[in-house]
Formats: sequence, structure tokens, C-alpha cells
Amino acid sequence: MNYRTNKVVSSAPAKVILFGEHFVVYSNPAIVAAINKRISVQAQVNDKSRINIKSGENSLSVPVISKEELITANDNSLLFLHPIFKCVKHILSEKDLLSVGINLDIDSQIPYGEGLGSSAASCVSTVAALYSLFSNRDRNLIYETARIMEQNIHTNSSGIDCYVSTFGGIVNFEPNKGFSNIRPKKKFTLLVGTTGVKHSTGEVVSEVRQFRQRNSSIFKDLSIKAHVVCKRAMNSIYEGNEMELGNMLTENHKLLSRLGVSHPKIEKLIENCLDNGALGAKLTGAGKGGAIIALIPNDISKEILTRISRGSGKWMLVEFDYDGVVFG
Ligand code: PMV
Repeated sequence: MNYRTNKVVSSAPAKVILFGEHFVVYSNPAIVAAINKRISVQAQVNDKSRINIKSGENSLSVPVISKEELITANDNSLLFLHPIFKCVKHILSEKDLLSVGINLDIDSQIPYGEGLGSSAASCVSTVAALYSLFSNRDRNLIYETARIMEQNIHTNSSGIDCYVSTFGGIVNFEPNKGFSNIRPKKKFTLLVGTTGVKHSTGEVVSEVRQFRQRNSSIFKDLSIKAHVVCKRAMNSIYEGNEMELGNMLTENHKLLSRLGVSHPKIEKLIENCLDNGALGAKLTGAGKGGAIIALIPNDISKEILTRISRGSGKWMLVEFDYDGVVFG
């Protein structure tokens, strides 16, 4: 099999869940968008038959033929880099190229473990970089492989993070129908705030399952309301109606709070946003920590960011990303 010997760079975007998290697990729709924060992966073949992965201060270097359980590296490396190692190994086996080594250099603008899709973006960009070395740039194939790889990290994942990271844009996901794109009539600016509290999606999802078992009629009521919010939100994106979109974000957040997945730090960040001119705000992702999003009027986004940044939390202004995965 032929491969390129020069360096290639691929990147893939983070995501935010705009509407519908948790309820989507029980067949409700969700709206998810790629945002302009990326993970970049630089890849090159080496002749040492080793997989060398570097990401900031974390690194991992192992012979390609290593069995997974033999891998040793500093602790953080294992947490961050092990899924990426698995991606590399999977693709080398798939191409029957286990005699070839790979150097990967990873650069991330996405906070890890805060519900912004860093795992999916790292899988998508790694798969894209490697496929690029082997001259294959088919996005559908990248999505399929990255989705399987991401399931090593999040079992039972719907695949929506990898889909959005691969194809970009704003996507409506209906568990029984699949994905469809939503084209907004105007540009929207979002503020993403992170609490610094890492969450485990799996644990929060099982807490919600228990809530649903104990409170089935309350859950049903919340779920119906979340469905209505999602549909109204979709129309307001199509129509470019930012007031309505902001209101829907806040409405969705109230439903998630009643589900028990908020956190005092999330509430504090949301209050800060709403007091300082945001049109609406909600937690994004599994909750119990992680990140929040707020819709900000485009023309005064910088002023609002300055005001909000005086409070706690880490903040970044983001726009939707329509490129998805990019090949170097
Ligand atoms: O925090 P995240 O980005 O892993 O979001 C999880 C979204 C859930 O709806 C809570 C779970 C799921 O699989 O859809």
C-alpha cells in the first residue's frame, strides 16, 4: 500500500448541544452545532515502527505491535491519548500497515471533559489525518470510523458528536429519522462558559434514568415540553429570530434543571449571562458541571463578553462552524 511521507495536518471542530440533551436518549429530537474551536492533528509516517503521540505536555511512545495492556506512559497521557492510540492502531491494522510507525502532534482549543465534544473532535481529526496519509479523503468513511472509535470512549454514544464534527453546521437529530441540516437565516453568536467541573456523561445519564423510573409522569411532561421547545427553536433558527431562540434556550435550561442535571456553578454562570444582556442561556451536554451556552446579540457581543468575564467561569465567544473536518 502506498502512503505519503510528508506531514499532513487535519482538524475538526468542537460541538455544542443547543437543544434536547438527555431527552434525546428517550427518542426526542436534539439540535447540535459545530463551533469554531478545533483540534488539529499533524501526522507523519516514521520508519521506527513506533506510535508517538504528543499533545501539549502529554506524550506516549510505543511500538506499533504493542498490546494495549503493555502501554506505559505518564498518567495524564493515558487518559487523553489512549483513545487516539486506539484510532491509529485500528487504521494501521485496517490498511494492513502494522510495520509502519506514526508521529502525531495534537493541538487543541477545546476544553477536555466539559461536554464540548473534545473526544469526538480528536477521533475525527486523527482518522482524517491518517486517511489523508493513505490518500483517502472520504468524509463518510471518516465519520463511520471515528464513530466506532469514539464508542471506545463513550459507550452507547448516538454518534451525533462525530457527525457534527465531521460535517459541520447545525444539525437536527431525530433518533428514528437520523440527521438533517438546519440553515440559519442569520449569523448567531454564542458565548460558551466552562465551570471547570468535569462530568461523566455515563453517570449523569444513569442518574436521569433513575429519575425517570421514579418520576415517570414528571419525566413525560418534561419530555413533551422539551420536544415543543426543540421544534420552536428549529423554526427560530430558520427564521433568524434571536429573541425567540434565546427564550427557547432558557426554557430548555429550566427543563434540564427540573431533571436534576444542573449544578450550582452552572446556575451562577447562567444568572451572570442573563443579568448582563444575554438573550437566553442553558447548560450544554450532560450537565452536573461542564459548560453552558448563552446567545448574545451580534452587534454588542464584545461588550457583553467583557461584562460577563468579570464574574466566575472561563469564557469564549464562538460562531457556528460550517467546514467540519478540514484536511491538510
Ligand atoms: O456531555 P456530552 O457532550 O457527552 O453530552 C451528552 C448528551 C446526552 O444527551 C446527555 C447523552 C447522549 O448520549 O445523547
